[in-house]
Amino acid sequence: MTKILITGAAGQIGSELTVALRQRYGAGNVIACGHKTKLGPKSLYTGPFVYLDIRNFSTLVNIVKRYKIDTIFHLAGILSAVAEQNPQLAWDVNMTGLTNVLEVARVCHCAVFFPSSIGAFGPSTPLDNTPQLTIQRPQSMYGITKVAGELLCDYYWQKYAVDTRGLRFPGLISYETRPGGGTTDYAVEIFYGAIKDKKYCCFLKQGTRLDMMYMQDALRAAITLMEADPARLTTRNAFNVTAMSFAPEDIFAEIKKSIPDFTMTYEVDLLRQAIADSWPNKMDDSEARKQWGWQPEYDLPIMTREMIDKLSERMQHEGGKL
Ligand code: NAD
Ligand code: SER
Repeated sequence: MTKILITGAAGQIGSELTVALRQRYGAGNVIACGHKTKLGPKSLYTGPFVYLDIRNFSTLVNIVKRYKIDTIFHLAGILSAVAEQNPQLAWDVNMTGLTNVLEVARVCHCAVFFPSSIGAFGPSTPLDNTPQLTIQRPQSMYGITKVAGELLCDYYWQKYAVDTRGLRFPGLISYETRPGGGTTDYAVEIFYGAIKDKKYCCFLKQGTRLDMMYMQDALRAAITLMEADPARLTTRNAFNVTAMSFAPEDIFAEIKKSIPDFTMTYEVDLLRQAIADSWPNKMDDSEARKQWGWQPEYDLPIMTREMIDKLSERMQHEGGKL
């Protein structure tokens, strides 16, 4: 990787991946693409920034050629809850966007990182120790675009030798940029509630166990996979990766250790609950560990302490606002 393009750079992952890649590869070598962001995260303006609707192929080609891009981290997309409310938009952005990225990668010889998700699984997938290769019959539009995306990435590798690599991320937890409308967002929102108001109303019910990961681990996973020696990879796309698995009551109990007067109630959102119920409890990520040395560093207690510290610091800096 020498010249990197990040689509969806203003999002939850992109705003932090941009910073991490600029530190590693030089600010001028990492081009951040925003969609409608006007005053996005400050981090985006520490290097080149361009506007792009990922559905516009000619703009994408021009950017890739102008900056001599050799690697694309394709993060632009519509997340699960928003996708279920607007399935046509989700299909359009997630599929047209990925097709455009893969085509430009084929023509301009770029490598591509594609973030799949626990959403690529469905109700008939084994819920516990979910294997990497297993039944995938998701019933959400988000999941359908993720399975199709995984297959399309494999297709471009097998047919055109485009160096596509991808992970199935679990729910990601971070303090910089708020999540963009997913089913696992409660695991981020709960910290804002705990720190600002000492209370939170959870939209998933007790017992809803899902895989999760702290953003620092997610960034390291994406970069490590893209830097991995290809000779070590027997598969390229759709690596299961996880760091922890918990239900709302578990993260509540963990936060309460630091904020004893924190309280939580439940008001179940049926749309997001149905999506969550169709996702695994815990994935088996042994292939990622074996093939490219994946190893998470943050478990539930370590992540919780860091989230509380970082968000409390932010609230102090921002005069009590978050
Ligand atoms: P996000 O919603 O925070 O960011 C996505 C970005 O895409 C937004 O900034 C949005 O403006 C941009 N976008 C939307 N439509 C666009 C368009 N037409 N053209 C260009 N940009 C457009 O999402 P995120 O959490 O950063 O996720 C990035 C990717 O990672 C997505 O594909 C998502 O499915 C995947 N993923 C995320 C998680 C997670 O927990 N955050 C977990 C698994 C997979
Ligand atoms: N966090 C994402 C979502 O809930 C998982 O892919 O949509």
